[in-house]
Order: sequence, then C-alpha cells, then structure tokens
Amino acid sequence: MARIVAGIATSHVPAVGHAVDSGRTEDDYWKPMFQGYEFSKQWVKDNPADVDIIVYNDHASYFGMDIMPTFGIGTAGKYDICDEGYGPRPVPVVMGHPALSTHIAASLILDDFDMTVLNKLDVDHGLTVPMSLMYGQPDAWPTRVIPFPVNVVMYPQPSGERCLAIGKAIRDAVANFDEDITVRVWGTGGMSHQIQGARAGLINLPWDLQFMDDLINQPEVLQYKPHLEYMIEAGSEGVELIMWLIMRGALGDNVNEVYRFNHVPASNTSVGHLILTPKD
Ligand code: DHB
Ligand code: FE
Repeated sequence: MARIVAGIATSHVPAVGHAVDSGRTEDDYWKPMFQGYEFSKQWVKDNPADVDIIVYNDHASYFGMDIMPTFGIGTAGKYDICDEGYGPRPVPVVMGHPALSTHIAASLILDDFDMTVLNKLDVDHGLTVPMSLMYGQPDAWPTRVIPFPVNVVMYPQPSGERCLAIGKAIRDAVANFDEDITVRVWGTGGMSHQIQGARAGLINLPWDLQFMDDLINQPEVLQYKPHLEYMIEAGSEGVELIMWLIMRGALGDNVNEVYRFNHVPASNTSVGHLILTPKD
C-alpha cells in the first residue's frame, strides 16, 4: 500500500525563485534565508519519497477570472511551467503520476469533494519555488509530482474545516492505493504578507509563529480561524496559509516536528518552513 511519510510546508515567494535562477543565493541579502533550507535539502535526500503531492495556489498564471477551481488535482503525465510577472522560470518540467492522481481524484469525489480534474495544467511559482528550495537546481526533478491547486486568490476561498477535511481524505485515498510507494504532502504559500494596497509589506512574525504551533499541536482548533483573521493579522495574501491545513490533515492526528525555520523578510514576505512526519 502507498504511505504518506512526511509533510513539508514552505512559503513560495517568487523573488526567491528569481534569486535561484539568477545565481544570487549567496548574496548578503539572500544567504541567511537559503541557509535555513540546507538542512531540508539534505533531509529530503536522506529520506526520499516516490511522489510529492504539492498543495499550492495558482496566481492567475494558468487560471484566472474565467476559470478558478476551488480544489483541483492534476492527473497529467507532465506539467509545463508558467508564471505571471517575468514569465516561466527556467526549471525542468514537472512529471506527474497519473495512476495515483486519478485514484486520489476518484476517492475524493466519492468522498463528496467536488474536485476539478486537470488533465492539462501548467504550474507557476506557487509550486516551482518550493521545489527549488527543497531540490535545488537539478536537470530533472527527483520525484513524481501531483499538483493540487487551491483557490486562495478570489473570494470565496474554501474554509479551514474544508481544507483540514480534504487533507484527511487525501490520507485515506493514499492508504488505499494498491502500490508500495511513499508519498509526501506539501502545503505552500504564506506566511504573513500583503503585496498590495496601503498595508503592503505587512509582516506579523508573532502571529506566524503561533500559527505554526497551532498547526502542529491543535489543527482541530486552528481550522475554525476565520479568513478575515488571516487577512487582518497576516495580510491579504496571508490567507494562502489555509493550504498548510491540507498538508496537516494528510499527516494524521499527531506529528513529529523534524525541522522548523523562519526568516524575515524575503521580498515583502515572512518566510516559514516546516518538516513534519506522521506519529502513529
Ligand atoms: C509575492 C507573491 C506571492 O505569491 C507570495 O506568496 C509572496 C510574495 C510577491 O509578489 O512578492
Ligand atoms: Fe503566493
């Protein structure tokens, strides 16, 4: 049977992707942030998995005002790279796992989650920046990937309860996949940041640290945090953090904290990163 072996959470700041792509990770500004990911790069090498389910949001790069799925799942064999702003990053294409993703899609739909099934999907910095942080700059990514886009950019976003519940349903689906493979689930985005309007540049590190504690220790309480609190306390884009609840739900009731890192600021954003493993 397939098994979920770890959860990874990380911010996905586009300027971080640009620093990687333009060889600036050793610059004075960037070095302390990238150093915080050195442990993780080694850890994912030492604890390899076959498949990464990456929960992320598209930033109106592939989706937009015409189509905005609340929850989507990629079922393709391969995903091309796209992006807003400077355009697609120079990173390898992302290879999928059609058998596992179609199995999860069917399982979630039969569990009453109305998934958008994406046989074609291009992926933006929400997915590619976390991959660069964990895997560096390989010629080909080391794992198969199942992109799991969530709408966090357009009202109404899914509730925290729904996010935690769909994470649990992903856990059940993976456990019922009849192949002996290992899977990690990633939650990306956040932490506090606002990139527009009068409060642009807002960062709230104490709130971010409390969010991490709650995510680890009491996700069943955290799931009731209203979207408005994310926006007031963590900025208009801080609501991306609801995606971390999906990762947490996929790990089961109790987790081990393998690694935690925070860095402020990266561009306009508070960077947060966690590696968790399920505790049976
Ligand atoms: C920025 C964009 C993002 O999608 C994000 O998660 C953080 C920061 C930005 O444009 O700075
Ligand atoms: Fe984002």
